[in-house]
Formats: sequence, structure tokens, C-alpha cells
Amino acid sequence: MNKNNIAVNVENLSKVFRLGVKEQASENFAAALWAFVRSPVQNFRKYRSLYNFNDISLAEEEQGDDILWALKNVSFTVNEGEVVGIIGGNGAGKSTLLKILSRITPPTKGNITIQGRVSSLLEVGTGFHPELTGRENVYLNGTILGMRKKEVDQRFDEIVAFSGVEKFLDTPVKRYSSGMRVRLAFAVAAHLEPEVLIVDEVLAVGDAAFQQKCMEKMERVGKEGRTVLFVSHNMAAVSSLCDRVIWLRGGQKVMEGGAQDIVGKYLLDGTDTTAHREWNDPGSAPGGKVARLRAVRLISEQGAIAEHADIRDRIGLQMEYEVLQGGSVLLPNFRVQNDNGIVVFATLDQDQEWRQTPRPAGRYISTAWIPGNFLNEGTYFVNCNLLTRHPDVVQFREQEVVSFAVGGNMGPGTARGDWPGKLKGVVSPVLEWETIYNKE
Ligand SMILES: Nc1ncnc2c1ncn2[C@@H]1O[C@H](COP(=O)(O)OP(=O)(O)OP(=O)(O)O)[C@@H](O)[C@H]1O
Ligand SMILES: [Mg+2]
Repeated sequence: MNKNNIAVNVENLSKVFRLGVKEQASENFAAALWAFVRSPVQNFRKYRSLYNFNDISLAEEEQGDDILWALKNVSFTVNEGEVVGIIGGNGAGKSTLLKILSRITPPTKGNITIQGRVSSLLEVGTGFHPELTGRENVYLNGTILGMRKKEVDQRFDEIVAFSGVEKFLDTPVKRYSSGMRVRLAFAVAAHLEPEVLIVDEVLAVGDAAFQQKCMEKMERVGKEGRTVLFVSHNMAAVSSLCDRVIWLRGGQKVMEGGAQDIVGKYLLDGTDTTAHREWNDPGSAPGGKVARLRAVRLISEQGAIAEHADIRDRIGLQMEYEVLQGGSVLLPNFRVQNDNGIVVFATLDQDQEWRQTPRPAGRYISTAWIPGNFLNEGTYFVNCNLLTRHPDVVQFREQEVVSFAVGGNMGPGTARGDWPGKLKGVVSPVLEWETIYNKE
């Protein structure tokens, strides 16, 4: 395949949400799928798709409190066989862009040209019809890609082997755990040999071994000359997998370029992250019926918001959440990543008072204390999650929700001591040293 053929061309793409107005289009892939199955007139086998939405009337200056530009005049091209990462903070417009490219939601304005068949794996839970079994969903996904039954048959075993859900093939997908669902969805999307593979946040779910398998598969898909668009908050994954990266902020393209270069600039940029996030509207706060996240803070020992900490200081990771439906054992937890995307540690609630104890409805503040002289100098990103146990259900999972910097003061009581430079390493503990001296 020719690397210089354009696979995806996006011109001045914009998407406006009018808050409070329900989207007319299918809000998820499963619904879009049914819409497709019910409208055989549409020809999804067509090789080249061209969309032009400029006829939709929207005054350029249209603004106001109830208007949200999820994407604003975004343009880029992707060549055949390129693996391109799309990065940006929460709400930057990444998923919206992928949904538009996957034709799950229409743009408000702009042109898109896609050369070839598109297969996409969007957020957890999309891509499948919940009432159908795993097996039926594999075939349905094949159909939407314009494949014949025989073509899906040929790849079926490979898909099942990759997903590792053999035992549940004839179980309705609604009974799958979110991890199983994503495993099967990724296997389907990657093995149906689309010309363009679109993947949103698959690395957020699934265990380490499966994540590694996904990474390798995407790399191979790229090497085969197929095009991959990949959204992730895992900067280590993005910079190792992608040739090129597009950085979005507030619906606009900040810059694009070589993966390492753009990831480095993104991580150094403070605009997208902060040490304090709050959700004042209970209706749109992360979570659902059971619990909602209301705030995440990084605090000093004195309780002040701490965007910067001295390497010697204790830092508190704090989440404030509301339990709306009492009666579950909760497991609040944090994960801390450094600026290479490496997970430095994960920590689960250790408070003995609530161990194995169902919690009543109400407001909770949970704080995890990171000791001083533990994290090395650098920038850190915090993922904040809440799980209910028995069965394990994720109530909210917010990635890179806050960030903070640890400053490297030298001097007594630090790992650096009198050494003037930064020490290597993920952590920077002050260890006890002993020296035995023998004179001859
Ligand atoms: N259906 C919708 N109705 C109203 N606003 C929406 C809708 N979908 C997305 N938005 C808004 O559009 C903006 C972009 O959202 P999007 O989901 O694309 O962000 P993202 O970059 O994928 O973020 P994240 O990293 O959190 O997944 C956000 O402000 C979001 O609240
Ligand atoms: Mg998203």
C-alpha cells in the first residue's frame, strides 16, 4: 500500500451540542447498528465515503450558555498505514471526533473523506447489542462492515481466540463484564480487517496482558498498511505506538506532529490539568445512580490545594463523592502516573472503619496520603475511581483528573542531599546508609 495515499481527510470539522436538547442521531454504536440493519437501502460497501455538512445552518457566531462547541474547525489528514494518536484532557473532544468519523453522530459543519471501510471501538459498552449473544454480535459487526457471512466465518476462530471469551459466546452480551465486552469488541474491530481502525480508550479496561496484546495488534494493523486512529490517556502507549499525534484542547487542534514531540509538549503544558476539580452539577458529575464524584483535590498537610509539593512533603489525594444509593461496600481508589505514562502506584482505601462495611447514602471525603521522600521530582497525573464490590462495578473512573508537580529541593533530609542534579528513578526514597571503614 502506498503510504502517501490519504486515508482520512478532515476539513473544518465542527460539532455543536445544544445543552438540554437531546441528540437526534443514534447515541451509541449499537443503536446505529440497528438503524443500519433496518435500512438496507444504504450501501455500506461503498469504498469511498464523502460527507459534507456545510448546508446545516448554524450562524458562525452562535454562542451562549446552552451552546457547546465540542469540536471547532478541526482539520487534519491521515495517510494510509499511519498510526495516529489523538490526545487531550477530559472533554477535549477526542471521543466526539471518533464518533463523527465512525458515523455514529453527525458533525454540525465540515467535510470528512474516508477511504475504505471503518471499524471502530468506542467507549466501553458501545459496539454491541446487549440482548444478542457474543457470537451474534460478531456477525452483526461483520455485516455493518459490509462483509459476507463466509468472510466472518473465516476470521471467527481468530476473533474468539484473541478475545478469550470462548465460554461466553452464546451468552447475551449484557451479562458480560465490562472487561469481557471490551476484549470481544477489540477482537472484532481489529480482526475484521477494516482499512481504518478507530480505537477509543481501550487501554483503560482489561488487564495488563490484554492491553499488551491490543498494543501489539494495533502495531501489526499499522504495519499491514491499515490506518489506525487511537485515543488514549496513556502517554507511554501513545508515544510508543503512534507515528504522529494530534493534540486537542477545548474542541480545537492545539498542534500536531511527531508522537514523542507532541506528547512531551502536552505533558509540560499546564493548561489541561489542575490540582483541583469540582463538579457542581450533580446531574452531569461522573458516576450514575449509585454514586457520583463531586471533587478531586491534591492537598498539603495543612489542607490547602497543592499544585506543587516539596519532595519532602506529604501530599493528600482527596476525593469527595456522594453515595446516592446506599448499601454497597465501596472501594475508592487512586492511580498515579508519571509523565512517561508509567503507573507509579495504585492505592485502595485502607480505612478499617469501612472495610467490608456497606455504606449508607451520604457525602464522603476520602484522602490517601503519599509520604514525603517517596515520589521523585516530576509531574504526576491522578486517576480517580470508585468501585462497588460483590459484584465489582465501576461507578466512576476519571483519568488524569488532576495533576501536580513534585519539586526537587536538595539538602538535608532529601535523597539528593548535596548532589546538585536530579536523580534518576521513578521513586526517590531516602534510604539508610551504612559504611564500614577498615584501615588496611
Ligand atoms: N451528547 C452530548 N451532549 C452534550 N454535550 C456533550 C455530548 N457528548 C459530549 N459532550 C461534550 O462535548 C465535549 C467533548 O466531549 P468528548 O467526550 O469528546 O471529550 P473527550 O476528549 O473524549 O474527553 P475524555 O478524555 O474525558 O474522554 C465535552 O465538553 C462534553 O461534555
Ligand atoms: Mg472520551
